[in-house]
Amino acid sequence: MRLLVTGGAGFIGANFVHMCVRDHPQDEITVLDSLSYAGSRESLAPVADAITLVQGDVADAGVVDELVAGSDAVVHFAAETHVDNALANPKPFLHSNVIGTYTVLEAVRHHDVRLHHISTDEVYGDLPLDTDDRFTESTPYNPSSPYSSTKAASDLLVRAWVRSFGVRATISNCSNNYGPYQHVEKFIPRQITNILTGRTPKLYGAGANVRDWIHVEDHNTAARAILERGEPGRTYLIGASNERTNLAVLQSILAAMGREPTDFEHVTDRAGHDLRYAIDPSAIRDELGWRPAHADFPAALSATIDWYRDNEAWWAPLKDAVEDEYRKRGQ
Ligand code: NAD
Ligand code: TYD
Repeated sequence: MRLLVTGGAGFIGANFVHMCVRDHPQDEITVLDSLSYAGSRESLAPVADAITLVQGDVADAGVVDELVAGSDAVVHFAAETHVDNALANPKPFLHSNVIGTYTVLEAVRHHDVRLHHISTDEVYGDLPLDTDDRFTESTPYNPSSPYSSTKAASDLLVRAWVRSFGVRATISNCSNNYGPYQHVEKFIPRQITNILTGRTPKLYGAGANVRDWIHVEDHNTAARAILERGEPGRTYLIGASNERTNLAVLQSILAAMGREPTDFEHVTDRAGHDLRYAIDPSAIRDELGWRPAHADFPAALSATIDWYRDNEAWWAPLKDAVEDEYRKRGQ
């Protein structure tokens, strides 16, 4: 398969490319990535000889059209992804997430190329803390933040291009990912690298918010299954049934790194902070036979901590600038 991976130098996209090179060596992979602050050539260094990396903007119709014309399928990861950045400056989110997805859709439409669009469960808004409710494929869209609203817009564009133009596209909405190569702005790597650099871990508000954590490899095996066996036009929810409060995740990190459970500080809460996300993954499990392989969260978290310990050269150049920005925001 000639595969175009947008955003393949970011966290999930790079892990996806690594997985394809390892498990599907017959694939011809091209990555299109603008190498924004969130993308890194180093994340693709282990597979650099096996792929083609094109630096470019997913909203650049000329570049996208040419690359899509030479592909059998597109997996579209490219996006601005951090909620706190979206609150500080929403405009890049409209460009990459909305115009970028529109640009990909027009190219796959003109060349009749299969598309898998990667999205987030945040498009559904949040759930109350004190219920067992979970998101399903029919939960109404109700995004809260400039990030999730632009991802919701991108999903709705995909649905409209399927219905109006017969584009062969699937969508997946996945819960919070963790694992190697995640930017140190995000919750789990921020706390691990805070401890590794002698900083105090930072918890927003009381830490009662709940996220449904999935290892990035599990997200990517699900995305690959959808690409190969999913039904065009369908939306699939991806999750590993692993809900935890932020406080509980932070205390697992502290314990695994030999720190006291109270060795952190509470900082200013995020504006509009979504309370709880939770995925009902029964449809992808029953229809595609997908199962998460990293079901032991403490073990996978511990392996992730080891990765950050062993790969300081990858994240250390990013760390001070990220913490300077957080400090300005009181976080
Ligand atoms: P990331 O921020 O680590 O990576 C995003 C990548 O997209 C970067 O390499 C960046 O350079 C690239 N990019 C951004 N704008 C671009 C543009 N205009 N043109 C070309 N490239 C551009 O994000 P991630 O965590 O790997 O997320 C990847 C996808 O998965 C996103 O679509 C995100 O919404 C979705 N997702 C993420 C999570 C999560 O927990 N991280 C969960 C569910 C879904
Ligand atoms: P994040 O990784 O930004 O993912 P998202 O907001 O997309 O779910 O944050 C995960 C949770 O952790 C979220 O509830 C916000 C919280 N958080 C902190 O408590 N401290 C931090 O330093 C960060 C970055 C996030």
